Amino acid sequence: MKGIILAGGSGTRLHPITKSVTKQLLPVYDKPMIYYPLSVLMLAGIREIMIITCEDDLHSFEKLLDDGSELGLSIQYAIQKEPRGIAEAFIIAEDFIGESNVCLVLGDNLFYGTGLVNSLQRARSLGKGALVFGCFVSNPSEFGVVEIDDDENVLSIEEKPENPKSNYAVPGLYFYDNDVVEVAKCIEPSDRGELEITSVNNEYLKRGLLDIEVFSRGTAWMDMGNCKSLLNASVFVDAVQSRQGLYIACIEEIAYRMDYIDREQLKSLAGRMKNTEYGKYLQMIYETQ
Ligand code: TTP
Repeated sequence: MKGIILAGGSGTRLHPITKSVTKQLLPVYDKPMIYYPLSVLMLAGIREIMIITCEDDLHSFEKLLDDGSELGLSIQYAIQKEPRGIAEAFIIAEDFIGESNVCLVLGDNLFYGTGLVNSLQRARSLGKGALVFGCFVSNPSEFGVVEIDDDENVLSIEEKPENPKSNYAVPGLYFYDNDVVEVAKCIEPSDRGELEITSVNNEYLKRGLLDIEVFSRGTAWMDMGNCKSLLNASVFVDAVQSRQGLYIACIEEIAYRMDYIDREQLKSLAGRMKNTEYGKYLQMIYETQ
């Protein structure tokens, strides 16, 4: 399975901060935002990754992550000229996806919690169809909302409905079979002129091929698209890391634990950041694990 991180967009809800800097490189406590969605793909066992960004920001992402080889990954980059919608990712990445199934994660989403890794690894072995997640939220109108029956079958899925049929939002993490490229090419732009991911999901629902997994209460999902949620995410990461002494979305640690890199490679990555708590944490992992 291949992975896509969609890290373009205009970030208008974070202006003036994002007038000159892309949202996905802003700090979320001690690391750039994109580390969080990247860690999700890595934990799912996905090592071939495409990052889709705006043209102006491409170089900054490359400077940060290069071709991914230091993390045992293969990272490619592509440009989305205008924010024409999340589903455009599959059209832009058509050649990269090739014959594979694909996981898409939004560049401003954070996932953390019990059972997440198992869910991700199950999702990665998806055969036919699509798999999305459901997350109970207090403000469903701001998201894609999924209605499910008692057996967790999807009944409907609506984009930012005024009168939501449930409290289950669909977070920015989606798994699809290879048909998603063809589906994305066939959907019509919405009234706001975007190729909506909800339209893709609705097409899978129509075909009887949309599956859902509801996150347990122990799974945290945050989107970091406005000032308050960005701050909340930083506070959350600090709280967990300080209390446990274990880091969230430390991509070098994940690469090591997933056997994408060996101990010597971890040591070298740690050595380059020894002035920070982050680097000291990597050094500690090197010495103790
Ligand atoms: P949004 O938060 O919906 O949009 P945005 O990032 O442009 O921000 P704002 O609403 O403040 O203007 O996007 C969710 C994620 O998806 C975010 O990481 C950016 C990414 N995205 C793209 O890369 N291209 C797109 O066309 C869209 C709609 C989103």
